[in-house]
Order: sequence, then structure tokens, then C-alpha cells
Amino acid sequence: MTKTGLIIGAGHYADIQLEAWQKVQGARIAAVLSLTMENAKKLADKYGLRAYDDWETAIQEIEPDFIDICTPPDSHFYYTRLTADLGLPVLCQKPLAPTLQEAEELVAYCEQRGVPLMINENWRWQAWYREIKSMMDAGLLGKVYSAYMAMRPGDGWGDNPYPVQPYFKEMEKFLIFETGVHYIDTYRYLLGEIDSLYCQVRTLNPVIKGEDMAVIHFNFSDGAVGLYDANRVTYMEEVRCPTYGYMTLEGTEGKLRLTEDGTIYYTPRGGEERRHAYTIPSEGWKGGCTIATQQHFVHILREGGSFETEGRNYLTTVKAVYACYESASSNKVVQLG
Ligand SMILES: NC(=O)c1ccc[n+]([C@@H]2O[C@H](COP(=O)([O-])OP(=O)(O)OC[C@H]3O[C@@H](n4cnc5c(N)ncnc54)[C@H](O)[C@@H]3O)[C@@H](O)[C@H]2O)c1
Repeated sequence: MTKTGLIIGAGHYADIQLEAWQKVQGARIAAVLSLTMENAKKLADKYGLRAYDDWETAIQEIEPDFIDICTPPDSHFYYTRLTADLGLPVLCQKPLAPTLQEAEELVAYCEQRGVPLMINENWRWQAWYREIKSMMDAGLLGKVYSAYMAMRPGDGWGDNPYPVQPYFKEMEKFLIFETGVHYIDTYRYLLGEIDSLYCQVRTLNPVIKGEDMAVIHFNFSDGAVGLYDANRVTYMEEVRCPTYGYMTLEGTEGKLRLTEDGTIYYTPRGGEERRHAYTIPSEGWKGGCTIATQQHFVHILREGGSFETEGRNYLTTVKAVYACYESASSNKVVQLG
């Protein structure tokens, strides 16, 4: 039986998620709930869905099998509580909550009620990271000892930065809390747990409140070292390119680099660099990652198993985010493991 969902929020990203839901097998979204009916209706009409501005009415009329929360972080716990009280599974956007304490409470609330909770962390589902992981698993790199990720969306300079998500300008904690969290999670996906980290932050564009540059040095438990070198202000000819930047991975048997358009180049030890052939899905945001993430959620709901970004596991990523801010303010290495 097809699972029926209700999506909360009708902003920039709910639109991207709803487009992806059209392609997900085994589930459909029946309605959009948002703060105002006008807001909900605009998006609902685009996808032929019902629109609501009231939780009770939406639940009674839709009788959903799951809730997809795509509102800003300050209402994630509120809707998670309402959903868990009904015993329904939750798919919740990152950042999980405005504070670490609230993120921990949100996870504990679902655990206490035995409700499945998946964080909608889609970065690790981008086609190039999936491919790189399978290359690593196939032994093409040998033992990886060095990883570098540069993030350069190039959308944060001038008097009117971030036109797509203007709320970025007001965030006290911005780059790591909002976007860096994706990279921390992707690093964990590729290289495992983080033992310790050191972080430096800067605010380069004076019209915003939070940091728009961060450099984070990771020590992974198995000995690899990683660098996340991120800012949103460097001029880029293509703003918000598909991969948001570039990456290199080096290991005992080979090395690879990922470019701005998702191309992977691989060099075996002693050999020549060549383009690595793989398929990037043509549909879905950033290498099909929204479709893949939502399909994973539905697959686990229907078949059982564990979500890759299940709540308790994802708290490790959230803790690393706060460790970055602690390191930046104390100018010290912070131990996680
Ligand atoms: N995974 C990704 O790659 C990615 C990308 C962009 C945004 N996001 C995340 O998605 C979430 C939403 O971001 P956005 O860019 O769509 O924001 P947005 O401001 O464009 O939209 C938020 C929507 O939620 C609604 N809303 C706010 N409070 C509400 C409440 N209490 N009840 C019901 N509706 C409420 C607003 O009216 C609006 O329709 C954030 O957590 C953001 O970090 C994730």
C-alpha cells in the first residue's frame, strides 16, 4: 500500500522536496500545511495537493502515515512532538533544532515513544559521494589518509547576499550550523567517526550576522585527516555549482578529485589520471539526492531496517557542529571520540 504523507512548510526547500516526491516509489504527499493558507495553497496548487493551515484538521482529513517536516529549525521539535504523540514516523529537515539540548530532547522524545525518526540529510546522497564511497569500498584508493573538501557556492557577497534564502543573513550561527553540517555528515559517511577537530571562523561580508567562512581540521578515528575549507564569498563564475565546490581524496593505492560539475578523476598509484565513468541522475536536486534520500526513508518504512541518518546516530553530527563553535571560540582542539 502506498504510504501517505503530510509536508509541513511551503518555502524554498519544500518545493524542491515536493518535486522529488513525484518520483519516489511507494509513497505520496497528500497535502501541504503551512503558517498561512495562502502560503500553503500556492505550493499545494503547483503539485495538485490539498492545503492546510491547521494541524488538527489536516490530520483528521488526510490521516497520514508519516510527516515530512520542512520548516525552519525553531519549529522542528514542536511538529516532531505532535507527530510522535500520534505514533507516526518523522522525516525532519536539518538543522535538527536551534540548540544541541533541543536536538537531544527531540531525539529522546521519539525514542521514548518508539517512533522512527530520520533526519532529512541529503548531502551524503549526492550521486558523486555515493560513487566515491563505492570506489573506496572497492579498494581503488587503498587506505585513505587525506581528504580535502572546498565549499565555494559564491552566493554570499555584496549588500544583498543569499537572495534564495534571505534568512541566512540573520543567523547568528550560519555557515557551519546551516551548511557545514552537511559536510560533517558526508565526512562521517565517507571516513567514519571524528576523533577531534580544530576550527577557525570569520565573517567576511559585514552585512550578515554569522560566520561565512570556516576552516575545520578533522582527525578521524582510523587515522585519516580531513580539511573542510569553506566560504560563501569567493567569486565563482558559476554561482551554486552542482557540487558547491571540489574535493580530493588520497590513499595508499590511488587518489581522486571531484570537480564542480560532479566529474570524478581517478589516478591509480603508478598510473595516469583518467575520468571515472559513472551516471549522475538527470532528475532531482544535486545529483538526484532529494529523490534518493526520500526513497531511502520510504524503503525503510516499508521494508524495515535502519535509516542512515537515524536520529540518535545523527546527534553525533550535531555534536560535531557545536564542537566546531567551541573550538573556534577557545582556539583549541576539541576532542569528540
Ligand atoms: N537539505 C538541504 O539541502 C536543504 C536546503 C535548503 C533548506 N533546507 C532546510 O529546510 C528547512 C526549510 O528551509 P527553507 O529554505 O524552505 O525555508 P523558507 O523560509 O523558505 O520556508 C519555510 C516554510 O516554513 C513555513 N513555516 C515556518 N514556521 C512554521 C510553523 N511553525 N508551522 C508551519 N509552517 C511554518 C514558512 O511559512 C515557510 O513556508 C530548514 O530547516 C533548512 O535548513 C535544507
